[in-house]
Amino acid sequence: MRKCLIVANWKLNNNTNTIKKFFHELKKNDHIIINTACHIAIAPSLMYLYLIKKYTINYPNIDLAAQNVDIHLSGAFTGDISAAMLKDIGVRYVIIGHSERKKYHKENNKNIAKKFEILKKTGLTPILCIGENQQEKKNGQTESICATQLETIFKLLGPQAFENAIIAYEPIWAIGTGITDTPENIQATHNFIRNYIAHYNTSIANQTIIQYGGSVNHTNINNLLIQPDIDGVLVGTASLTASTFTKIIKHAQKIKYSSLKINNI
Ligand code: PGA
Repeated sequence: MRKCLIVANWKLNNNTNTIKKFFHELKKNDHIIINTACHIAIAPSLMYLYLIKKYTINYPNIDLAAQNVDIHLSGAFTGDISAAMLKDIGVRYVIIGHSERKKYHKENNKNIAKKFEILKKTGLTPILCIGENQQEKKNGQTESICATQLETIFKLLGPQAFENAIIAYEPIWAIGTGITDTPENIQATHNFIRNYIAHYNTSIANQTIIQYGGSVNHTNINNLLIQPDIDGVLVGTASLTASTFTKIIKHAQKIKYSSLKINNI
């Protein structure tokens, strides 16, 4: 069974005060957070990774995630952070290929594939974001765009690339807009992605976690997670406060693990 992975992508938000508040609030919901079978990760600004590490010490199911990584492991690259450094401080997942990094930092598929490669070599888990923009959606190019983004990775790393990696399908037009596609359409794209990997390797395709991201909140999570190929979610805005994030986890627990008897949820 693929695990349900819920990742909070805090982007360029939060600070020591709001993070303190977040964990104070989260503590009130410990019965949900500690007992859930869902796996959780928080991707703060790099500045606050240590702080999150400190706050999550008593939450074995909350992992550290990073929002970016450099393609080099060390050297004269001012301002960059390497996979080795992230691993050193206990990071498990690294988000790469996010559309905001493509837009504001001109990242492209080739450069993202290199990041994917360095993460795999270092033993970190890439969360590879893929997805189409609004025009591409209108043109009916969703599948071909996702295929191209996946193919760059396959070309560089071969069929084993997605073993223990995670894909986040994030339609760019759905990010931060409050607009989402129908759960059925999203499921169809997730199924396309899984089948695409299956052309290379069926067992890897069956174990690959495919998350959905783009305006996920506690009101739409149920209809998303009942879809068979939506294994988890990458959450931006709704992950910024503990109350909304906890609601998402509570719903995910119910949908994905309802057969498990967990007290007080
Ligand atoms: P959003 O962001 O939940 O605010 O749409 C998601 C993301 O960009 O990962």
